[in-house]
Amino acid sequence: MKMKSLIAALLASATLGVVAAQAADLAVVSGDTGNGLEFLRSQLDRFEQETGNKVTIVPMPSSTTDQFGQYKLWLAAGNADIDVYQTDVIWAPQLADQFLDLADAAKDVVGEHFPSIIESQTVNGKLVALPAFTDAPALYYRKDLLDKYGKSVPKTWSELAATAKEVQDGERAAGNADMQGFVFQGNAYEGLTCDALEWVKSYGGGQIIEADGSISINNPQAVAALEQAKSWIGTIAPQGVLSYQEEESRGVWQLGNAVFMRNWPYAYQLGNGDDSAVKGKFDVAPLPAGEGEGARSAATLGGWNVAVSKYSKNPDEAIKLALFLSSKDVQKERAIKQSNLPTIVALYDDADIAESQPIIPNWKEVFQNAVPRPSAPAKVKYNEVSSLFWSAVHETLSGKGTAAENLELLEAKLTELKGDAW
Ligand code: GLC
Repeated sequence: MKMKSLIAALLASATLGVVAAQAADLAVVSGDTGNGLEFLRSQLDRFEQETGNKVTIVPMPSSTTDQFGQYKLWLAAGNADIDVYQTDVIWAPQLADQFLDLADAAKDVVGEHFPSIIESQTVNGKLVALPAFTDAPALYYRKDLLDKYGKSVPKTWSELAATAKEVQDGERAAGNADMQGFVFQGNAYEGLTCDALEWVKSYGGGQIIEADGSISINNPQAVAALEQAKSWIGTIAPQGVLSYQEEESRGVWQLGNAVFMRNWPYAYQLGNGDDSAVKGKFDVAPLPAGEGEGARSAATLGGWNVAVSKYSKNPDEAIKLALFLSSKDVQKERAIKQSNLPTIVALYDDADIAESQPIIPNWKEVFQNAVPRPSAPAKVKYNEVSSLFWSAVHETLSGKGTAAENLELLEAKLTELKGDAW
């Protein structure tokens, strides 16, 4: 070995030695949609280089409901194998006791985020998780097909149903037997709670449980909203939509087989990918409004965060990782590559983001007006509330009982679950 390279090798091993002394093996658990895990890996590679830590991804199914079930078990058992969890916005009150308080570690950066998002992750003064991105759905529509049939973007659900039917039938007659009018998330899981809360709220039917804890779901507007949604099954939406989650809807849409789709912003970038049949042919709008008193366009507030397990054996390095994954740098990359909505205010004025993903600046207002699921008032019982709600909706869409019957029953079950207080 030449002298110069010997010195270089010695220096390198000395540096590695220093890093190795404080480096940790960390594990982050994440379920995601699209190519989310690939993106996460690319960011972890950067983190590894910058800190000398090693990070393994423990992959999970993309259903938030499946993830929650597993994480609850792991955390209850004091699992020390997972350091960092990617957490849904609705989980904070339910898992607060299992995560470290990040308030102190994040004190210099919390001010960069939208205060309402930080608040949603704060439980009794404890900052349970740091925001990685926020979420609010869009109505994806095929520009080319609406132009072809001389239709405008629907502003109400009735308009959507009429346009979806006309274009679907026209395209089927023209030879695409697979064409569907509208795809969404009809499976019995948290995603259906999101979709159905939008229908109910858009008809002025409230938010299932209101901020003061009162159970509001059994009302005529909510009944009208669910009956309307039921009328789509088998007419403008395939029967199979009753088992669709986000990815199944996106699959149909990206093959070019749907006129409209309800989905989150992540589908925007993927829909414009080179392997997408709808690349350049679609745009997004706010979801349609219902009818009657209090009707409005309603979007359910979603979003993902990073939390550090209190059972982590390397809490300091794990906190570093959480800070990194929620940082402005990573959020900017995430916005550009994943079309996920940032939680950092300044990124909505970022020219690179606006240029590559125009949905993002346009969605600032949509997510700021988005409707939260009742995870704050229902506290630790939220998952049960949601599961009772999505079941009642799924039964209704499947034709098992009317909306009125199912919502009356739901009200009784929620009342029992609540007991004296949530
Ligand atoms: C999205 C949202 C999340 C929601 C989930 C439902 O991932 O960000 O908040 O619970 O969809 O499927």
